[in-house]
Amino acid sequence: MDSFEFNKISGAVLGILLFMMGTGIVADFIFAGPKVKVEGYALPGAEETAAAPKAEASAEAAAPIAVRLRTADVARGQAGVKACAACHNFEKGTANKVGPVLWNIVERVKGSAEDFNYSAALKERVDKGEKWSYDNLDAFIANPKGYLKGTSMGYAGLADPAKRADIIAYLHSLSDEPAPLP
Ligand code: HEC
Repeated sequence: MDSFEFNKISGAVLGILLFMMGTGIVADFIFAGPKVKVEGYALPGAEETAAAPKAEASAEAAAPIAVRLRTADVARGQAGVKACAACHNFEKGTANKVGPVLWNIVERVKGSAEDFNYSAALKERVDKGEKWSYDNLDAFIANPKGYLKGTSMGYAGLADPAKRADIIAYLHSLSDEPAPLP
């Protein structure tokens, strides 16, 4: 092999390498997806625990539920109950899960889902004949254990007053004859 031929071959090899590097850079440039800012998922439990201490404060600061319900949205509420659906069914005739069925819950006597073993704390309210009013539901969802000490509902609470109103608007729609809005 004379040196001229050697030069041609190594030149070709070098050319191919450069071409591969070049296309690699261009491909990176073209196909670079959006940069992932936060890796992994924020677990809902962690977020809610962090938000829980604020729940009471914001419940005080928020407009009354009757006012918030005017701008609440049933569809947003339906999307919002995903966090509840791990433990609750919402449709008529469905079974209790970890928590009782929430069909027709607004203005229902507390703790009255059939065949559900409520906590002693909730049973006490049942004995008093208390109903789930809009205000009660708002306070309970904001901070279950703050509202009902000893409840078995293992949910940290939802601090956002507007999101609670959406959920309550959705719960209100779950009835053959929805109770009048406050
Ligand atoms: C980790 C499971 C769990 C999650 C999540 C959960 N719940 Fe519950 N829920 C329960 C349990 C258990 C009870 C029964 C409480 C008791 O007996 O003290 C309950 C009771 C209730 C009651 C009272 C029902 C009745 O018949 O008196 C309401 C209303 C309610 N939950 C609404 C909600 C809403 C709204 C959400 C979502 C924002 C939610 N829950 C999320 C487990 C859960």
